[in-house]
Amino acid sequence: MNATLKTYAKVAEEYAQRRRDFWMPEFRIFKRMLKGKNILEVGCGTGHEAEYFIKDKFNYLGIDASSAMLKVARKLVPKARFQKMDMLKMKLPEKLFDGIWACASLLHIPKKQLPVVFKSLHKVLKESGVAFISLKSKSRPWEGLVEDAYPGMKRFFSYHTLQGFKKLLQQNGFKTLKKGSKPHPVRKNENWIMFFVKKA
Ligand SMILES: C[S@@+](CC[C@H](N)C(=O)[O-])C[C@H]1O[C@@H](n2cnc3c(N)ncnc32)[C@H](O)[C@@H]1O
Repeated sequence: MNATLKTYAKVAEEYAQRRRDFWMPEFRIFKRMLKGKNILEVGCGTGHEAEYFIKDKFNYLGIDASSAMLKVARKLVPKARFQKMDMLKMKLPEKLFDGIWACASLLHIPKKQLPVVFKSLHKVLKESGVAFISLKSKSRPWEGLVEDAYPGMKRFFSYHTLQGFKKLLQQNGFKTLKKGSKPHPVRKNENWIMFFVKKA
């Protein structure tokens, strides 16, 4: 188990308690862009948005590499379907999903390995599909182990810039439909970037 997953194993309950409706504006935009009901959430964590997808009658599958996060998700959203899966070893049928929601999860993937994830996302997304990706940003790209929200515990983060990540998406077969940025509601020095994309 890597450092990031070790941290999530310890903080899963706390993560769920702390998680707020930070992404509701983007969630609403995403829903309006969808052409169908099949949703894959990549790095679903404790299932915060899973609950909303289920309420809105989506055919939802959430995948995550952390058993602890999934355990909490299954408890909080018993009607949702969750599967333990590393996004770097995604095994799912081709062109199955109308939408992919990847909120604050690709930020744990080293930049060098992102093409592997992009390839899987591209494979499982329908031609008419839309994906949402949100990440932490820094003015200069940087990656490494960080101790931030959980004292004494580290997670690996890869920070991107708006333009840099847009270019990465383009290089990996995705066209950006909409992008934006916003600060974290509490940790004001933490900036987030987000992308709505489709297959190029
Ligand atoms: C910051 S949390 C975000 C969780 C959820 N998307 C949310 O917005 O609350 C990051 C999640 O990514 C998961 N994760 C990290 N590396 C992963 C990998 N290689 N494959 C799948 N999930 C991973 C973690 O276990 C964790 O649940």
